[in-house]
Amino acid sequence: MKLNRVEKLVINNPLRVVQQKFEIRRFRKMFRLEPGAQILEVGCGRGAGAGLILKNFHPARLYALDLDFCMIQKAKKFRFARQEHLSLYVGDGTQLPFRKASMDAVFGFGFLHHVPDWQAGLAEVARVLKTGGVYFMEEIYPALYQNPITRHVLLHPRDNRFDSRDLKSALDANKLLLKETVECKQLGILGVAVKTNNHQKT
Ligand SMILES: C[S@@+](CC[C@H](N)C(=O)[O-])C[C@H]1O[C@@H](n2cnc3c(N)ncnc32)[C@H](O)[C@@H]1O
Repeated sequence: MKLNRVEKLVINNPLRVVQQKFEIRRFRKMFRLEPGAQILEVGCGRGAGAGLILKNFHPARLYALDLDFCMIQKAKKFRFARQEHLSLYVGDGTQLPFRKASMDAVFGFGFLHHVPDWQAGLAEVARVLKTGGVYFMEEIYPALYQNPITRHVLLHPRDNRFDSRDLKSALDANKLLLKETVECKQLGILGVAVKTNNHQKT
């Protein structure tokens, strides 16, 4: 689901970039990703996160995708017209145009909670990751975006939402082993999960 005007103001904002800088720093401490990786960012918005991924993880190629044509246009126009390691796409995170096991890492900054069928979005993340590949995620829970105030101001899917328990159980179902987290169980999570061959709970 695309953002409404209010959330675009919240997201396309210098303070959001500051927040993402802190988060990327935390991700780097959580997991060491070698330079030269194939990386995908799903729900990249106007590309602020993509810029930080390029700078901090030095991928061979970063594929950045968003459902919203206007966001991708902004990213192309203002940021990365001549960025040789970056490919920008308009696309749907529930039907990723990439081969199975083709990515060393996937980043999702506030992407999954915008997807009505978030289980399909997470299954796609797991499908495109190689075994040993890593999912870097920043997500928020309904208490933050569906409380009596935010539900009227922001636009999110209303049904089939995930909280901390739902997300962890879906990660396990997709063989994504949660390695490190910073989480406030009511509000949201910053986490790193590694694609394995097995489920965590056997
Ligand atoms: C909260 S914004 C985050 C944008 C950016 N990652 C950031 O942190 O600044 C969520 C983004 O996910 C995108 N999005 C929502 N549903 C999507 C889907 N099914 N596939 C790809 N992108 C999607 C929205 O268009 C929006 O740009």
